Amino acid sequence: MTLYYEKHGDVAVLAADNPPVNALGQAVRGGLQDGLLRAIGEGALAVLILGRGRTWFAGADIREFGKPRVAPFLPDVCNRIEASPIPVIAAIHGTALGGGLEVALSCHYRLAVPGAKLGLPEVSLGIIPGAGGTQRLPRLTGYEEAIAMISGGRPIPASKALALGLVDRIEEGDPMELGLQYARELLARNAPTRPVSALPPPAPVDFEAAKAQVTRKARGQLSPVAAVDAIAASARMPFFDGLAEERRIFRELMETDQREGLIHAFFAERQVAKLPELNDVSPRPLDMIGVIGGGTMGAGIATAALLARLRVTLVEIDTDALDSARKRIAGNLSGALRRGKISQSHHDEVLSDALSLATGYDALTDADVIIEAVFEDMAIKKQVFAKLEAIAKPGAVLASNTSYLDIDEIAASTSRAPDVIGLHFFSPAHVMRLLEVVVGHQSAADVTATGFALGKRLGKVSVRSGVCDGFIGNRILFAYRTCADHMVLDGASPYQIDRALEAFGFPMGPFAVADLAGLDIGWANRKRLAPDRDPRERVPRYADQLCEGGHFGQKTGRGYYIHDGRTRQENPDVLPLIEAERADLGLSPRAFTDDEITRRYMAAMVNEAARVVEEGIARRPLDVDMVLLMGYGFPRYHGGPLKWADMQGLPGLLEDIHRFAEADDFFWQPSDLLMKLVAQGRVFDDLNKEQTP
Ligand code: 3HC
Ligand code: NAI
Repeated sequence: MTLYYEKHGDVAVLAADNPPVNALGQAVRGGLQDGLLRAIGEGALAVLILGRGRTWFAGADIREFGKPRVAPFLPDVCNRIEASPIPVIAAIHGTALGGGLEVALSCHYRLAVPGAKLGLPEVSLGIIPGAGGTQRLPRLTGYEEAIAMISGGRPIPASKALALGLVDRIEEGDPMELGLQYARELLARNAPTRPVSALPPPAPVDFEAAKAQVTRKARGQLSPVAAVDAIAASARMPFFDGLAEERRIFRELMETDQREGLIHAFFAERQVAKLPELNDVSPRPLDMIGVIGGGTMGAGIATAALLARLRVTLVEIDTDALDSARKRIAGNLSGALRRGKISQSHHDEVLSDALSLATGYDALTDADVIIEAVFEDMAIKKQVFAKLEAIAKPGAVLASNTSYLDIDEIAASTSRAPDVIGLHFFSPAHVMRLLEVVVGHQSAADVTATGFALGKRLGKVSVRSGVCDGFIGNRILFAYRTCADHMVLDGASPYQIDRALEAFGFPMGPFAVADLAGLDIGWANRKRLAPDRDPRERVPRYADQLCEGGHFGQKTGRGYYIHDGRTRQENPDVLPLIEAERADLGLSPRAFTDDEITRRYMAAMVNEAARVVEEGIARRPLDVDMVLLMGYGFPRYHGGPLKWADMQGLPGLLEDIHRFAEADDFFWQPSDLLMKLVAQGRVFDDLNKEQTP
């Protein structure tokens, strides 16, 4: 049973019981419709709808998308609720999202408990509300708020919903008791039914201007823009015509790759931390966090832990460095305060009680998890781990935030290899949601579990990675960056490449990203790799020359671009350096189309990603997708590189790689996994399904 019918005097109660989130699957929709008819048939005077368990309806059942539709359909259920001859009351707790809010909007009266959240997040799944949300919401809130809520997709708290007229009252208590009391009050004053659809549309706004603004922010995502069209229909059409228009747009979007990509991302985000080998493994304690090094990363990691209300002790080399670390953390925390992420009291408490700073490693003897974020230098890291071995309490997890270095080699330098793990945060560590949990050959299962538990506590999306140079993300980045460098040598400009990839949906192209990260990072990495480099590798020198000139990107104001605040301009010194290098190498530049740039760049990314899966560095294709989505700005509406590859068609991609290999068969070596999938007529997502526990 997913929907319970109970009679409480004159009030019929329809209570959904479809854990975990009371999604509006077919059985729930059917239950609502039948329950309403039964209530009317039995002479009830009012109907109360609520959700059992932790929430009201959190939306349509997303697992039904892409499958044949089964009646009763949600728009019809909503219309029937609204047309009920007796008042229908919604008592909302938890989340009223998507179809869930649309059911509430079809009720005649709405109450919510203070902690409830209400929203129409459909655009984040690549669709728009499809059961009247775009037509009913503006009739209550006006167009400006409706466009913000529907195109933005962010839920609002109950207090704001009350201010907007979206709910009629907020009360603390049990939704059933509150709802029954409200129903009885309404009956006592003979309150009428109150269909939202009968309200006139609000005063129109400039929909074209609103659409232009949403289009700019959407960076190629279709659904937020289409939502404005659906909302605008409510201003020029009678309600039921508007509903039909909304449905038309909804169906159209349902057929798009963007919908498929975004729903893949939704489920992958929930799947990624589920590892069968950790099912029965309890994590170790993680109340007290030690951080070594208070530079960019150490300060960010300490901030992330403090924001999650963990106690932190940070160790630096001397008091000056300690002072800088304290300033960095204080700056991060005041940013979090400004953005409303923490309260003033939380902010003050953290600085006065939760954070300790020290110059001696002895301060770390109580730490449960110690995260090293010192310079990226194996010898220094080994020294740090040797010191840790001497002072860390037995069972403490010893983690490194290294970007590229071998966790197994670091572990081997201690006698506690099973306690050692990589915890690779992304900059800024208190903002970026990705955490790569790098599992060494000897890492104990409960140490891995502790890495995931810490990630969860910090609100991160944690992805398991095996050990290799750069782990999942930086290794793949290295491949597609190399491809971009090759295209520059062959004739494309960094600026054309950035523009082409920004048009694909990346917030920044690779050269703008390099400026942001600091050109010195790539420079140091190229130097590190130089001794073992294969002579067939093509490595450009112009990037080194920029660094040799002291230009490290945004931090020095000059790199591929000249940076002034948030604006960027092409740096006129860059193209002459490139042209000189092409001349030295005897290369005559050729023209690239934007399409070719994107195809090559993506082929390099997908091919390396496939290798990362084939070698078991990433367990499943979805792990790679999450890393690129959460840490590298890959547009979420493409689903991640391997989901994107599936949707493009793997045979075409493989053909591209073979063709590119005709000119450079060292760089373009097709992955065995990619060839195998093409030969078998399968896709990457089949591998995800095989490994879903
Ligand atoms: N359909 C199917 N399954 C859903 C679901 C949905 N709408 N929402 C959540 N789930 C599943 C999750 O996949 C997860 O399953 P798992 O345990 O097997 O991994 C489980 O429910 C719990 O979800 P979370 O881990 O996300 O739980 P949280 O407590 O962290 O978050 C939530 C709860 C805020 C409700 C979050 O799950 C969420 O945002 N869900 C999606 C809400 C949404 O987008 N609704 C709109 C749907 S589209 C729609 O309604 C169309 C309509 O206009 C016609
Ligand atoms: P950074 O140079 O900003 O900070 C390093 C800090 O470590 C300095 O403040 C230094 O004083 C301190 N330090 C050095 N030796 C120490 C020791 N023995 N004991 C205590 N403190 C010591 O470097 P950053 O950028 O914070 O990088 C740190 C680590 O994080 C590196 O391994 C890097 O590869 C990795 N990383 C960096 C990212 C980035 O974007 N900057 C992203 C992810 C990982």
